[in-house]
Amino acid sequence: MSNQQTFLRDAMRRLNMTREAFATRIGVSRRALDTWLLPDDSQESRSMPEIVERFVSEILQHQTETTQSVHKHQSLADAIAFEGRPQLLSVDQFSRESVEALFLVADIMQPIARRQKISRVLEGAVLGNLFFEASTRTRVSFGAAFCRLGGSVCDTTGFTFSSMAKGESIYDTSRVMAGYVDALVVRHPEQGSVAEFARATNIPVINAGDGPGEHPSQALLDLYTIQREFSRLGKLVDGAHIALVGDLKYGRTVHSLSKLLALYKGIKLTLVAPPGLEMPSYVIERLGKHDMVIEQTDDLEKGLAGADVVYATRIQKERFQNESFEGYRPDFQINKALIDSACGADTMIMHPLPRDGRPDANDLSTDLNLDPRLAIFRQTDNGIPVRMAIFATLMGVDGQVQRSMRDATWRRPAMVGPDDAVFHGID
Ligand code: CP
Repeated sequence: MSNQQTFLRDAMRRLNMTREAFATRIGVSRRALDTWLLPDDSQESRSMPEIVERFVSEILQHQTETTQSVHKHQSLADAIAFEGRPQLLSVDQFSRESVEALFLVADIMQPIARRQKISRVLEGAVLGNLFFEASTRTRVSFGAAFCRLGGSVCDTTGFTFSSMAKGESIYDTSRVMAGYVDALVVRHPEQGSVAEFARATNIPVINAGDGPGEHPSQALLDLYTIQREFSRLGKLVDGAHIALVGDLKYGRTVHSLSKLLALYKGIKLTLVAPPGLEMPSYVIERLGKHDMVIEQTDDLEKGLAGADVVYATRIQKERFQNESFEGYRPDFQINKALIDSACGADTMIMHPLPRDGRPDANDLSTDLNLDPRLAIFRQTDNGIPVRMAIFATLMGVDGQVQRSMRDATWRRPAMVGPDDAVFHGID
């Protein structure tokens, strides 16, 4: 995608405007705007006049200043603080304004995440990555995000190799770690446990998943991905139809994401779960207080019809207590045939991953792997800028990143995945 297209799409996303509204705002015809957004190799493609670029830059500058002035007497870290500390335990800590402000910081991180630039704003800082449950994405991407800002990482994985196996309490572990490191990222199998870590220390603590509770950084990167993909598709998050599918009872990512979506206007949320694995009533009650239409069904085809986003989740068998697989039909699978029959050409397909990729698994099928609607790897890639933004904000260096950047000098591939080119047709 050319710089011109990226610039215009980012502008529409930041301003939360459709193409029609954006064309009106900058005083050009919709047709002219469309030609500036076409790929360079299209015969209809045109260059945007310099005066328009300057005008759009001024609007964006004004919007950034307005967003920052919301936090004029309060930093973003203070606005989202947990019990007065720079810690991230739940998406409940966010308002729409603070989510948008965090995403502006994530946008600034993009050239670093894409390995074009480097920054050392966290030089000398050490992260403690404490994972008492399995993880690939969250553990490694939090670690990589910290390193890309110049910090370093100490890890522990599983109970077996931690002194919790000898009966050490959460309080003692957290207080001891706070003497060694400057921030903690914690994943633990019990709901509420990461808040216990947070209360035992004043250093930043980030919830990387507390049992079936929350996974706030995942929900933030999911919403960031929806916003970015929608700007390419000319859609807004306000008024979107999102289908959350699968194990909504134990899938903590959908608990966090649905609460973040409730900050937007006119969302239609369709909850598609097999009997026994429905969204918990405490989450539904919370969502019901917002401007949101909620429908529940166990019928996949009906639930997915007309959705702008299909967000699939894995069945969390490891958390099952008395549940059985009765009522869980073998055909409960998000595959190409279902997506083609129930969804449109611009439906986004998301999944927090990992997914069960076996042929008959009740999960997101691998037969969608080369479908450009599948956004799962763009979603995982967005984990880096969003987690960098979280660290920079909680550690008070969000305002230093832009001027700290230098060019990266090592050789890197233009696309990190062998199949990424497939998506370029729509990117
Ligand atoms: N999405 C997610 O939390 O993945 P991991 O379990 O691999 O961290």
